[in-house]
Amino acid sequence: MQTIFTRLFENAYDSLMHLPERLALSERRLDMLAGLTGQILEIGSGTGVNFPLYNSQAEVLAIEPSIGMVEQARKSLEQSGIRAKIKIVQSGVNDKPEGYFTGQFDHIVCTLVLCTIPHPLENLRRIRSWLKPGGRLHVLEHIAAKNSLVRSAQTVMNPVWSTLAGGCNLNRPTDQYLEEAGFVAEKVDYFEFGLPFIAGVYRSS
Ligand SMILES: C[S@@+](CC[C@H](N)C(=O)[O-])C[C@H]1O[C@@H](n2cnc3c(N)ncnc32)[C@H](O)[C@@H]1O
Repeated sequence: MQTIFTRLFENAYDSLMHLPERLALSERRLDMLAGLTGQILEIGSGTGVNFPLYNSQAEVLAIEPSIGMVEQARKSLEQSGIRAKIKIVQSGVNDKPEGYFTGQFDHIVCTLVLCTIPHPLENLRRIRSWLKPGGRLHVLEHIAAKNSLVRSAQTVMNPVWSTLAGGCNLNRPTDQYLEEAGFVAEKVDYFEFGLPFIAGVYRSS
């Protein structure tokens, strides 16, 4: 549901992310995305921050439920330096009927979105079914801390954080959900930037 906070968050998103991107995230995004080719689904593409990072052999379907984000992403497609073929569709990960995307994608990309989508475990299972055999899921995400004190602090702060940050959850154990949903990490980098993060490539078990 669109609230005044969601609207503010969406409009300020790129500015709020400027420093974290420069100090910790943009290099990891580039590392994750620059070599991908074939049919790619990007879930929750936001303002289109990943779009300039795909190469000319990438065909990207970007789904994003928020019209405010979609409008910003469409503008970002007008920038020079976008090499991939990119189509943006206004849709959430949970809006497609069962079986809609089954076995269609070589790669699925989720950056800073598994913290926000509803029913993460159920939706990760659906996402897994959308990969072609041998396909890969690429994830950049902050996760619940392993340290129980820090995790408790994340849980206490979560209601306010989530309201101000477009429904983002600070305390999701997304690394565990990936495993429970049937993904195996081929390569995963755990790092800290204010919060614990993962940057990983996953295949179906
Ligand atoms: C923190 S932003 C991340 C945007 C972008 N992926 C990035 O890396 O900067 C979270 C995004 O998830 C989107 N989102 C929220 N609910 C979603 C859903 N059900 N399905 C797909 N995306 C969703 C939001 O609209 C928002 O664009």
